[in-house]
Amino acid sequence: MTLTVRIAADADAGAVVALVDSAYRGEESRQGWTTEADLLGGQRTDVEMVRDLVRDPAGVVLLAEDGPPSAGLVACCHLERRARTARLGMFAVRPGRQGGGVGRWMLGAATDHATEVWGAERVEITVLAQRTELIAWYERCGFTLTGERHPFPYGDPRYGLPHRDDLELLAMARPVGSNIAPG
Ligand SMILES: CC(C)(COP(=O)(O)OP(=O)(O)OC[C@H]1O[C@@H](n2cnc3c(N)ncnc32)[C@H](O)[C@@H]1OP(=O)(O)O)[C@@H](O)C(=O)NCCC(=O)NCCS
Repeated sequence: MTLTVRIAADADAGAVVALVDSAYRGEESRQGWTTEADLLGGQRTDVEMVRDLVRDPAGVVLLAEDGPPSAGLVACCHLERRARTARLGMFAVRPGRQGGGVGRWMLGAATDHATEVWGAERVEITVLAQRTELIAWYERCGFTLTGERHPFPYGDPRYGLPHRDDLELLAMARPVGSNIAPG
């Protein structure tokens, strides 16, 4: 695996939307080992939302590729700078490539950006409380639950169409400098 990482530009927005929606929702996402398809339908994001993230000076959208540009994106994530914390979101690996270490590699690349470019001291994520297999994976990657809980944005179809009324987001954080290498 010879992945490279770069910062997304406006022109990448369509490909990012396709990757994110394929990984989080709908039938294609079921090829992966973890999906939101049973919890939510509709879109996870759209071109306007991704362009807003790409243009926001407080953050970056990172893309991973391992072939010629025509081969498409392998993974992406959004990283937002909040004082000494970097907040990671919109984290997706192409469903057919999941389970092979790309996600852990991307977490490492995002952490490198947060520490080396921003001087961040911790990385934070939020995870749907119902996704216990994903929470367990983040724990194996060095994250711990902070105890903070956030309401799911019900009523805003830009974030999807919930299949249940008890969705809730849990915050997890990881101090930088701890080991994220495969193990
Ligand atoms: C979460 C995600 C980014 C991880 O990417 P990935 O490339 O699959 O990650 P990796 O291959 O590095 O790691 C997969 C882990 O799942 C484990 N795994 C594989 N199959 C599994 C299964 N059926 N059940 C539970 N765990 C499984 C692997 O053992 C590995 O764990 P390890 O790193 O401790 O060995 C990716 O699955 C994804 O895009 N999911 C859909 C979108 C999403 O949920 N994003 C995160 C929202 S907070």
